[in-house]
Amino acid sequence: MTAPVLEMRAIGKAFPGVRALSDVTLNVAPGEVHAICGENGAGKSTLMKVLSGVHPHGSYDGEILFQGAPCAFKDIGASEARGIVIIHQELALVPYLSIAENIFLGNEHARHGIISWNETHRHAAALLKRVGLAEHPGTRVADIGVGKQQLVEIAKALAKKVKLLILDEPTAALNDGDSDRLLLLIKELKAQGITSIIISHKLGEIAEVADSVTILRDGRTIETLDVHDA
Ligand SMILES: Nc1ncnc2c1ncn2[C@@H]1O[C@H](COP(=O)(O)OP(=O)(O)O)[C@@H](O)[C@H]1O
Ligand SMILES: [Mg+2]
Repeated sequence: MTAPVLEMRAIGKAFPGVRALSDVTLNVAPGEVHAICGENGAGKSTLMKVLSGVHPHGSYDGEILFQGAPCAFKDIGASEARGIVIIHQELALVPYLSIAENIFLGNEHARHGIISWNETHRHAAALLKRVGLAEHPGTRVADIGVGKQQLVEIAKALAKKVKLLILDEPTAALNDGDSDRLLLLIKELKAQGITSIIISHKLGEIAEVADSVTILRDGRTIETLDVHDA
C-alpha cells in the first residue's frame, strides 16, 4: 500500500462535559475519495475541524501528518496554506456579494491596493468553468440556488489551490440532480489529483463516489473499509 497523504493518529478532543473524540485514527491515501460516516454526534465534524485548524493545535490530543510532515495549525488560514480546505455543512458564502467576490474574498486580485475586477472576473470565470457552473461571475450568490452555491464553494477551494478537499455532508441540502452533479465533480477533481474527504451517511452516495470509508461511533474509529471490496 502506498504511504498515506494524511495520517491522523490517536486524536482526542473534549469539550466541557463532552468527550467528542477518543483515540481516533484516520489514514487517507493520495488521490482517493475517503468517506467518513457515522450517526449524528459521532464526532465527524469535530474530526474535520481538528484537521483544518478550526480547533487549533493544542486544543486536541494526538498528531496529524500531511504529505509526511507534521501539522500544527493555529487556524484555518494555516491549513489552507498547506492546501487543506474545508467546506462546512453550513455554507459560508456572503449572500449579497457576487460569485467572484465570494471566490476571492480575502484573496483579491489587487495591484497597488486597487482590486482588478477584469482580472478577478476572468479568473473566476475560469474556475466556474472547472466546476461546471454556467453563471456570470457578477451574479449575486443570493440569486442562485444552494446546489450552485456548493459549486461556488468548490471554485473558492480551487482558487486556494486545494490538495485535500473536505466536504461536510455536502449533499444534505441538495436535491437529487444537484447531488449527482456534485458527486460527478468530486470524481473529476479526483482525476485531476485532488484528494477528498466526504462526510456522508448516505450509503448510495458512498458506494458511488468513495474509494474507502471510515466509520465513527461515539467518538471512536470503528473501522476503515475498502468500498470496492465491499
Ligand atoms: N463546539 C462544541 N462545543 C461543545 N460540544 C461540541 C462542540 N462541537 C461538537 N460538540 C459535541 O461533540 C460531539 C460530536 O459532535 P460532531 O462532531 O458535530 O458530530 P457529527 O458531525 O458526527 O454529527 C457531540 O456530542 C456534539 O454535541
Ligand atoms: Mg456534523
